[in-house]
Amino acid sequence: LAVLMCFIFPVSDVTYFWNWSVINVKETHFPRDFLWGTATAAHQVEGDNDKNQWFTFENGGFTNSDKNIANYERSGIACNHYNLYREDISMMKKDLGVNSYRFSIEWSRIEPSKGNYDMNAVQHYHDVIDELLKNDIKPLVTLHHFTEPQWFADLGGFEHFENIEHFVKFSEFVFRAYSKKVEIWCTINEPNVYIVEGYISGSFPPAKHSIVTALKVTTVMCEAHVRVYRALKKISEELNVKSQIGLVLQLSQVDPQNRYNPIDRICTFAAEKISVGLYLDFFSKGSMYVPFLVNYANTDAVGANDFFGVNYYRNDFFGMTLDIPPIKSVKDYKNREYNDMDWEIYPEGIYRAIELVNKTLPGLPIIVTENGLADAKDAKRAKFFDRYLYAVNKAIQDGCPVKGYMAWSLMDNFEWASGFYPRFGLYKMNYKTMKRTLRSGAKPFIETIKKWKVEN
Ligand code: NOJ
Repeated sequence: LAVLMCFIFPVSDVTYFWNWSVINVKETHFPRDFLWGTATAAHQVEGDNDKNQWFTFENGGFTNSDKNIANYERSGIACNHYNLYREDISMMKKDLGVNSYRFSIEWSRIEPSKGNYDMNAVQHYHDVIDELLKNDIKPLVTLHHFTEPQWFADLGGFEHFENIEHFVKFSEFVFRAYSKKVEIWCTINEPNVYIVEGYISGSFPPAKHSIVTALKVTTVMCEAHVRVYRALKKISEELNVKSQIGLVLQLSQVDPQNRYNPIDRICTFAAEKISVGLYLDFFSKGSMYVPFLVNYANTDAVGANDFFGVNYYRNDFFGMTLDIPPIKSVKDYKNREYNDMDWEIYPEGIYRAIELVNKTLPGLPIIVTENGLADAKDAKRAKFFDRYLYAVNKAIQDGCPVKGYMAWSLMDNFEWASGFYPRFGLYKMNYKTMKRTLRSGAKPFIETIKKWKVEN
């Protein structure tokens, strides 16, 4: 049976080059038009976002518990990026030398109540975009990065197909406002994480535990992407602007804890299907299907991405446990290195993630929309960027059309249910003084950009 399973659910061979001693970004050659940037999300950095469902959650909503966020933290003023964006953009330009910046526009600021748009907020993002352009930094805008207005959550959010129209209207409004200045648009950031955390594990709002609802939300969010894509493409034509619009997915790589154990392999297959496979099926074949649970098709989904956004952070091992749900990620600590959140540092994973997208959607441009690690001591960051950039470069040399790489994140920020302890920043945040200090672990990233500039 085990042998049979290995045919039915093939796993790619796991190599391991974290410990290679001589990988060096000096050996990389990135294409001429490559986008180099950092990424953030509104709620994690702006501060004072009190009209979205995360604010509600942080304050005990959805669960009636004050333990929704680790250490009872609140996003609060976060990094005060809403007011300090000029300084932040100047750091990007001067210290990092990047040519792009991925950020999200906070829906709850633009449309705090249904159908009412706040023109001050609209002006704010104009100012941010203008400041970026003035510094030769290309803006990449995300329309939905985990947060949505509380009024939208009250309607049931993405649990209902009827609610898609609200997201489409908001997206059209924002696109009409900024599309003359912004070419690259990410519709929804990591719907798979939003769904697994919000509807299965319950660690994000609305903190539910239902695989059936999770699968329904998967279909609604995928449909929402398609509808937004089509709507914005229409407006692009009408306004005669160039646009590149894509979905961003978290492409964790999963492996069976024991590759010869058929149960581990079935668990891995199921986990992969729910967290990644369904989405790739939908956008490549126009349908997603899980026997008895979900069968959703829309041929319009094929071709509804001008690029695919790859976020890569972690790989996991799956196997049978006695926990509920029975699928659990299990780690093997031997000879492996982990970040502060216990996510394994595994550069092959980003290579595999890129390769998977390119196999499923051949030739579609790929942007690494996020990659980074939580490392408060800054002990592993330099090695991390060295190895991961090497892996991305190798994927390009092997024929994958990767067009950009955004490091997560510009600075330490509010890491959702984990609060402020994870330190993902190229800049260290002092949350008392709001001072940002460049970490030396950012060096390989900066050096790679420098080298690329010299070559081009
Ligand atoms: C991906 C998410 O898009 C981002 O918001 C988060 O901070 C990082 N993962 C790290 O967990």
